[in-house]
Amino acid sequence: MSAKKPLVVVTRKLPAPIEARMGELFDVRLNAGDRPMSANELAAAMREADVLVPTVTDRIDAKLLAQAGENLRLIAQFGTGVDNIDVESARRRGITVTNTPGVLTEDTADMTMALILAVPRRLSEGARYLREHEGAWPGWSPTWMLGHRITGKRLGIIGMGRIGQAVAARARPFGLEIHYHNRKPANAVIERELEATFWENLDDMLAKVDIVSVNCPLTPQTFHLIDTRRLKLLKPDAYIVNTARGEIIDENALLRALEAGELAGAGLDVFEREPSVSPRLVALPNVISLPHMGSATIEGRVEMGGKVIVNIKTFMDGHRPPDRVIPAIM
Ligand code: 8YV
Repeated sequence: MSAKKPLVVVTRKLPAPIEARMGELFDVRLNAGDRPMSANELAAAMREADVLVPTVTDRIDAKLLAQAGENLRLIAQFGTGVDNIDVESARRRGITVTNTPGVLTEDTADMTMALILAVPRRLSEGARYLREHEGAWPGWSPTWMLGHRITGKRLGIIGMGRIGQAVAARARPFGLEIHYHNRKPANAVIERELEATFWENLDDMLAKVDIVSVNCPLTPQTFHLIDTRRLKLLKPDAYIVNTARGEIIDENALLRALEAGELAGAGLDVFEREPSVSPRLVALPNVISLPHMGSATIEGRVEMGGKVIVNIKTFMDGHRPPDRVIPAIM
């Protein structure tokens, strides 16, 4: 007789092949309508489930975890960042948390690089101009739509983990000089390959670079890492790109700096109060705002789902899941 399958509750609609495979392996409860669950719905799911598969849009805080049922032993996040989960509270309740690192590195780095190129070269402004002035473009001009050259500029990467390194590897062939700030220096081989300069002091790096790319995880230490004071350290013709988490930048302070012309522009894939996005920010011509699309490729999302399945299966078979999140090394 086969063992009872675990009840796996998936909070959002996942790619079809992933949902199909989950259906074969688990007693799975899917979300066909893809409507985000309310806190009450999440609490109800956590009372019943053996495994919860949440995403960045589900806030799994200490209060919710306190209401979890005895059966809930695993939270298998569909995503790399786990800032939406109180991992320490989960650990104290004996609930394992896993994530999906690695498989979205290249896609997120591509999106970051796209913004690093698009904002200084005014891609969205040019495209918008033609869309809004159909047939009325007077033609090429030597002094119109001038942006800033990419080659020779200094890129300052905050967070030299997998994604930060993948951004640096893309930026080098475009002639960008790589500077980075991290809790500790990257290993010497990587530093040499990327010709990267480590800045122990973030303030010092910010004053020197032309483009800042935020690639660190959101933790209590990185919340509002870029605040009013640090924005003032940037050169007035510097750009800032964020594909990590909105909360790392004080968004009101960023908006004020952009509106005051204290920064040249920004490329933002994430926002402090998602899904709410300030219309003032979206309206700025020198800002490209994207709705959290960094890992939005078919291949990436299928591979993320594959990792979720492996994590659940390994855990249910009594082994240590490959992507267990350990609070101390987050
Ligand atoms: C995901 C991300 O799409 O994995 C992450 O940390 O930021 C995104 O690219 C999302 O978080 C899934 O939960």
